[in-house]
Amino acid sequence: MDVTVVGCGYVGLVTATCLASLGHTVRGVEKDPRKLKTLQDGHCPIFEPGLAELMQENFASGALQFTDNMKEAVHEAEVVFLAVGTPPKPDGTVDMSYLEGAGKEVCDALAEDRQQCMVTIVVKSTVPAGTNRKLYGFLRSQTRAYVQVVSNPEFLREGSAVKDFLEPDRIVVGGESPEAFRMMRRLYDPIIKREETFMTMGWESAELTKYAANTMLAARISFMNEMTILCEHYGADIEDIRKGIGSDARIGPAFLRAGCGYGGSCFPKDVAAMEHISRAAGHESLFVHAIQTTNANQKKRFVDRLISKLGRPIERASIAVWGLAFKADTDDIRESPAIDVIRYLLERGAQVKATDPRAMNNMKAIFGDQVEWHGDPVSAAVETDAVALLTDWPFYSTLPFRKIAATMNQPIIFDGRNCLHRDVMRETGFQYYPMGRPAVEASLRLKARS
Ligand SMILES: NC(=O)c1ccc[n+]([C@@H]2O[C@H](COP(=O)([O-])OP(=O)(O)OC[C@H]3O[C@@H](n4cnc5c(N)ncnc54)[C@H](O)[C@@H]3O)[C@@H](O)[C@H]2O)c1
Repeated sequence: MDVTVVGCGYVGLVTATCLASLGHTVRGVEKDPRKLKTLQDGHCPIFEPGLAELMQENFASGALQFTDNMKEAVHEAEVVFLAVGTPPKPDGTVDMSYLEGAGKEVCDALAEDRQQCMVTIVVKSTVPAGTNRKLYGFLRSQTRAYVQVVSNPEFLREGSAVKDFLEPDRIVVGGESPEAFRMMRRLYDPIIKREETFMTMGWESAELTKYAANTMLAARISFMNEMTILCEHYGADIEDIRKGIGSDARIGPAFLRAGCGYGGSCFPKDVAAMEHISRAAGHESLFVHAIQTTNANQKKRFVDRLISKLGRPIERASIAVWGLAFKADTDDIRESPAIDVIRYLLERGAQVKATDPRAMNNMKAIFGDQVEWHGDPVSAAVETDAVALLTDWPFYSTLPFRKIAATMNQPIIFDGRNCLHRDVMRETGFQYYPMGRPAVEASLRLKARS
């Protein structure tokens, strides 16, 4: 099929690339000139496992092209995806300006000659309930083109986005047109393994499904994070509790890992939006509010604990921050807990040495020379008073800890992701503070090397 994807960010580029890999002819429309140039040069502007290879393969074959010319891009398209950002405004409501802008551009570009064959506009962006219905009304009033609108929220996770797109748990399509549903069914046909995974529903149900999914997942994380307070007080281990409740089929094991708070471009903004969506419906959601308060507190709690266990004043203490991305396998730092943690540390007068294998350049744009940047965790830890581990990059668990301990002023690690092994920490001479797990308090001091 002939497909156009408007917006080539994390979701749009994965959508465009994966659809091209399924045999469709895809044009990505991107208005950021730097990103567009990178794409047109055949390079992938973001780090996402497997994406660059798949993109380059389909770009080379001509199945995938990039442009900023909306008119040409929608001229022959049967399906036009809108995958532009819907970031939060300072008050937590959704900034709809990119989606409205993209909708207007598509509307203007749809030529009069589109009256005969239908074009399906697909809203991939996460949008509040009522948006698709409004967009449909707008398009019907502004163009004589034969358009249908469907909501098709995206559930991919950064770090496994290509796999998530190509092997979805479900594909949700909201709308009111059986013809558009059939179009979407045909589009996704190669990845629909079981008929029940393709779900059609009303626009508002599809829109709210996305917010409900992210709010539910964030709630599970916040609940486990709150449990870490009790674990630390009573000497329990959050990992035992995770296994104990995750093995219950009614609960399930996913999204029960405690840590220093959730981040990313979706959970914080979607949960905040959910609070406003509730308020707009006349309902003050104490539950949704609590998810966010717990998350904010957990980041503060991480720093407060670091300060209380440091054994020296935080002013002028030197802290190594390992991991800046909001999760492993991405370079995305949007709403990363590392931003708040570094900010709190700097505000309290600490010196920060930061490192991340992928996300350092993005973070430099925020902190510039307020932070000392290091290419690897070993050099970042030299002559520091503690390490704060904030992203669960798998290679962090196999670092040469004995060597690292010997170069630090005092070997202490605060593990905000519970991803290091206690026994290794103890054996290599670290004081070790995970979240909601027993700490290693009395470190075996290193003997002087001969
Ligand atoms: N990132 C995720 O993991 C994820 C997962 C599921 C859903 N979502 C949702 O998907 C949407 C997109 O998120 P993202 O992370 O890909 O955002 P993004 O900011 O990475 O990408 C959006 C892109 O759209 C481009 N753009 C904006 N207006 C345009 C226009 N008029 N024409 C052409 N290009 C335009 C921007 O330049 C940018 O490159 C959001 O609503 C988000 O909530 C994101």
